[in-house]
Amino acid sequence: MSVNPGPAARGPLQPGDRVQLADPKGRLHTVTLERGRLFHTAKGSIAHDDLIGGPEGVVVTSSKGTGYVALRPLLSDFVLSMPRGAAVVYPKDAAMIVGLADVFPSAFVVEAGAGSGALTCSLLRAVGETGRVLSYERRADFAEIAEANVTTFFGRRPSNWTIQVGDFAAADGDGTADRVVLDMLAAWDCLPAAAGWLRPGGVLVVYVATTTQLSRVVETMRDQGCWTEPKASETLVRPWHVEGLSVRPSHRMVGHTGFLVAARRLADGTVLPLRRTRPAKGAYGRDWKRPGESVGDESGGISDPAG
Ligand SMILES: C[S@@+](CC[C@H](N)C(=O)[O-])C[C@H]1O[C@@H](n2cnc3c(N)ncnc32)[C@H](O)[C@@H]1O
Repeated sequence: MSVNPGPAARGPLQPGDRVQLADPKGRLHTVTLERGRLFHTAKGSIAHDDLIGGPEGVVVTSSKGTGYVALRPLLSDFVLSMPRGAAVVYPKDAAMIVGLADVFPSAFVVEAGAGSGALTCSLLRAVGETGRVLSYERRADFAEIAEANVTTFFGRRPSNWTIQVGDFAAADGDGTADRVVLDMLAAWDCLPAAAGWLRPGGVLVVYVATTTQLSRVVETMRDQGCWTEPKASETLVRPWHVEGLSVRPSHRMVGHTGFLVAARRLADGTVLPLRRTRPAKGAYGRDWKRPGESVGDESGGISDPAG
């Protein structure tokens, strides 16, 4: 088995399992179970032995009488509490990346940059035991953090995961990847390498944090000419408060994380048919011409945004 889901993903709690203890206010403490050990909180201590051998989803009582709900952390819990080098891809975006990229069991996925390894965990889960993930990370110190986090999450280092320290922009792909996922500041510099790795029909998903990055990535992809029309999106998740008659959106939400751009790799030599939809008036300024139109041909109907 190349990937396991953690020390024990189900069944009775065992030594070595990570457990999250939630106090009555919802504050979380993560402990790794060891026989004979005590976990100390301001509200008394909890004996690991009270949990070992029993089911998760129980309430364990501290020596001062406070109840804690004990559960194995989900991947999303782990990602939000794990040590970070670089900023992580949040669970809502990781879920969208796996979905938009259509990552499937047995897929070969190439990822850059690995950062803290948060997205890597989602990708490894999605490709399953028969798939493979190759992660690039430019910084050796971040690669070490990613390695530690992925190893902690899966309980051991997945044998179907390779992390390569280096600049992905300089990587020579062999055109065999089913999916490529990019998450770095200057993702546009890495688009040629992404095209080099992806097989025809493969999916590229790029995660960017700002509108200026989004624009540059999409325009660079169009100029490259080896992608289907890029689709850009943003995922907003609005939690709701549901209590009696008070049923309303939460007052707080994660306002912004990033944007996603998705496209498919065209076969080499393929030229897309002209886009049927015209850019919005003024989108590219007065000199823009549809490819194939001569300069001076006014049929593009582009107005000067400045009037
Ligand atoms: C925002 S972090 C990635 C976070 C990661 N996806 C996660 O979920 O933990 C961006 C990472 O890309 C790396 N990076 C930037 N440019 C790169 C390149 N050209 N090749 C490889 N890694 C690069 C940075 O060092 C940084 O660690």
